[in-house]
Order: sequence, then structure tokens, then C-alpha cells
Amino acid sequence: MTAEKPKVWATFDPIPSVVNYLKERSDFSFNESGELATREMIRAHLPDLQGLFVTLRDQIDEPLLGEATNLKVIATLSVGYDGIDITAATQHGIWVTNTPDVLTDATADLAWGLLLAVARRIPEGDRLVREGKYSGWRHNLMLGTDISGKTLGIWGAGRIAQAVARRAAGFNMQIIYSNRHCKGEFEQATCALCVDFPELLQRSDFLVLAVPLTPETHGRIGWPEFNLMKRSAILINIARGAIIREEEMVEALRRGRIAGAGLDVYVDTTGIHKKLGDLDQVVLTPHVGSATVETRENMALLAATNIVDALQGRRPQNAVNEITNARAQTEPTRAPQNAEVL
Ligand code: NAP
Ligand code: GLV
Repeated sequence: MTAEKPKVWATFDPIPSVVNYLKERSDFSFNESGELATREMIRAHLPDLQGLFVTLRDQIDEPLLGEATNLKVIATLSVGYDGIDITAATQHGIWVTNTPDVLTDATADLAWGLLLAVARRIPEGDRLVREGKYSGWRHNLMLGTDISGKTLGIWGAGRIAQAVARRAAGFNMQIIYSNRHCKGEFEQATCALCVDFPELLQRSDFLVLAVPLTPETHGRIGWPEFNLMKRSAILINIARGAIIREEEMVEALRRGRIAGAGLDVYVDTTGIHKKLGDLDQVVLTPHVGSATVETRENMALLAATNIVDALQGRRPQNAVNEITNARAQTEPTRAPQNAEVL
């Protein structure tokens, strides 16, 4: 008699290679509706599941986890895991895993894309040309601001923060950063200078946010912080929308308290503050930091590997929690699998 395969369900449709990988190793199915999984849909599947594959759009809280009596692992297709109640998962003995590293470069690239786009007014220029309003070079047409030689400020000193700093090398910038603690290795690699938070705000010409959304960072940037910033400063947010008090940011931009913003993330995770769309000095992208074909493939593969590890009794390599009462017996982590396994 063959043992029953563990049930795994994804709230979305993973790429075919990952579907095959999970089907070979589990009783795998996924939300095929093409729509976001609703809370009720997730709740209906939970009691049977040993593995749950989610995205950052899914909110997995204590009431849901209380019903997940067989669940061993939740893998999110993101590095941020602010949508999952980690404390509750840990108490229930459920591993939570994320997808660090593989999305670092793509997200840092997007931060720089936004920075360049705001500083040099690229989307505004694109609109002007498309609207037939371009009638040749003019000495005062769409003047932006220099990047080279300016001060790049970064809040955070993690993977993405460091990748953003590395990319500044070609721009001859001074790099300053603020973090819970200073990091010597980061400073040696990039010549970044560790400063306190008010100094970061005061000195940055470009301020990039690269911290996770936590109770400590939630709503941390509002009027008092905008008042410390240079009027010429440009704010780049590729982290999470709710780190900024958005209404106050809109006012700061409207009143010229800061010069511009490049935003990939918003408080409302399903849309944008309606007044943001009226501001020419703002460049908006639809939460696409990690959205390249290669990166999303690597993220999905990593998440799937984490699920299988947990189901087979190993500690998943990207566990974000430590659990002593794991519902699966744990063995040491094995080497990560590569794409050829698929
Ligand atoms: P990471 O390597 O964990 O770095 C996070 C950094 O934030 C660390 O330096 C950390 O401090 C610092 N930090 C400051 N306050 C913190 C707090 N209260 N709790 C935890 N850390 C705090 O993460 P990452 O891979 O760079 O990703 C950063 C964030 O970017 C993610 O959490 C996610 O929200 C966002 N993100 C967005 C996109 C997108 O599509 N726009 C894509 C990927 C990631 P220590 O150095 O002291 O640990
Ligand atoms: C994207 O926002 C992520 O956290 O991976």
C-alpha cells in the first residue's frame, strides 16, 4: 500500500514547471479561477492541507490558522511576509517561508528605475511626446535634476538596501543609510556612512525605503519626517506602502515640501490614493519590484523547494520562524535544488 501524498494548495496559478514539481511530490492543486483567492476559499481548503502556497495578497491570520489543523508549512511567493501572522503560525507549529535573495537584484533595479524616472522626468517626457506636444529641442524643456554627485540615502541595510547602494557606484554619489544597527561590511563594500534617522532625512537628495513593514516601521514617515527633508528631495518607496502616511505624503508633494516620489507600493494594496495620479512629479508602478520572468521563476522554485523540505521533515532553508513543535519531524537542511530538477 502506498502512503497518501500530502495535500498542498496554492492560492494562485504557479508556473507549469513548479506545478509539475509539486505534483510529483504532493497531492497538489491550485486556485484555477484566475481571480484572487477569497478568504472563504482559503478557509474551505485549510483543514485538509499540509502545505499552503500564497502570495503577498493573501492575509493569513490567527483565526484562519486556528482552522489549519494539519498544516505544516506556508510558503509565500515574496520576501515580505507582513500578510502572515508569524507569531500565530509559530504557536501552531507551522513553518513560514519566504523568497529572499533571488529577487534582490530585480527590486534594486526597479528602485533605480524609479529614481532615474523621477529625477529625469522620463514618464512626463514620454507623455508629452506621445501627445504630439514635442516640437523640437528647447533649452528649457523638461529640466530635471542631476543624480551624479548627490547624496543617496537608504533606510535599511538589508539585501535590497545594499543592492541599491552597490548600483550607485557609477553615479559618484555619497551614500548614507540608517538602520537598527550599523553594518561594517556594507560600509566597506559601498563606502556608505551610517547615520541616525533624522540625519538620513535631512541629508538625502534621494531617499530609498528598503525596510519591511512591521509595527515599528508602520506609518513611520509622515509630516514631521517630510519637514526634515530637503525641499528638493525625491522619495523612492519599493518597500511597503503603509510605511508612509500616504495622505501626508500627498500633501507634502502638493505643497512642494518634497520635490518628487517614485512609488511601487501603496497603503491600499489594491489601488492607489486617487490624488497621487494627479501629480506630475510622481512616478507610479504597480508593485512590480520582483516582476521579471527570471526572478518570478526563481521565486516560485525556491518557494516550492521550501514546501517540499517542510513536508519531508527538513527545516526549510528560507524559514522565517523557528519552531520547536513542528508538525513535521525536522532533519538538517539539504542543499537547495536547482532548476534542472524541474
Ligand atoms: P532584509 O534583507 O530583511 O532587509 C531588511 C532591512 O530592514 C534590514 O537592514 C533590517 O535591519 C531593516 N529593518 C529596519 N527596521 C526593521 C524592523 N522593525 N524589522 C525588521 N527589519 C528592519 O529584506 P530585503 O530582502 O532587503 O527586503 C526588504 C523589504 O522590501 C521586504 O520586506 C519587502 O517588504 C520589500 N520588497 C518589496 C518588493 C517590491 O516588489 N516592491 C520586492 C521585494 C521586497 P537589520 O539589518 O538589523 O536586520
Ligand atoms: C514583494 O513585495 C515582496 O515582498 O517580495
